[in-house]
Amino acid sequence: MKLQFHTQFIRITLIVLQLINPSLQWPEPEYSATPIPAPWPEQFHALLYMNLSSTRLQITNLWYDWPRGRNVNIIQKQLSILLYDTEWNNGTTFYYTLSEPHSCRIMVNDVGIPRPDFLDGAEYLGTAVTDGYLCNVWEKIDTIWYYEDVYTKRPVRWDFNDGISTHVITFEVGAVLFDDSVTQAPAYCFNQEMKNM
Ligand SMILES: *[C@@H]1O[C@H](CO)[C@@H](O)[C@H](O)[C@H]1NC(C)=O
Ligand SMILES: *[C@@H]1O[C@H](CO)[C@@H](O)[C@H](O)[C@H]1NC(C)=O
Repeated sequence: MKLQFHTQFIRITLIVLQLINPSLQWPEPEYSATPIPAPWPEQFHALLYMNLSSTRLQITNLWYDWPRGRNVNIIQKQLSILLYDTEWNNGTTFYYTLSEPHSCRIMVNDVGIPRPDFLDGAEYLGTAVTDGYLCNVWEKIDTIWYYEDVYTKRPVRWDFNDGISTHVITFEVGAVLFDDSVTQAPAYCFNQEMKNM
């Protein structure tokens, strides 16, 4: 109570001072600022536990690499095959296996991979405990709900409106996938027509 009164008094004093001299710039006190999500690091590796709406589960190794314009998802679906999903910033995505049964799908979109600041403009919803972590939660254009650890600022979870819920198990800032043999789409990708996403 006493503290609140005190900070209120300081705020009013600052406003009065600003009225007297509008060129005075006072930083917004931290306690009143709406939290904003930390931008994604330009390069990271994350191990992701994903629960698909169809009640299926998968483990994904995500290698996000903004400088290389590349977002690689190595997807192990439960009791199923290993899939490689290599997304390039020019909008081309290759979705393929590297062992039998061979398959490849090429998809094209006009947005490319997420920018590090793709959460800019998200609406702050408050805090919630998820996966045992106290998180700040944001929502962006009814598409993504994003949970970030209040203390470490690491992503904990994000949900898409298609029902896929992603839980971050490890988050290694700066890690880079150097094995180009897995990001190079196999030859059998290139004797077929492109499909639009
Ligand atoms: C996956 O999500 C569904 C729907 O939210 C939920 O009912 C189910 O318990 C989840 N499964 C696991 C293993 O987390
Ligand atoms: C986008 O970049 C990838 C990797 O360099 C390349 O394989 C693909 O053909 C490119 N797509 C277009 C439409 O240029």
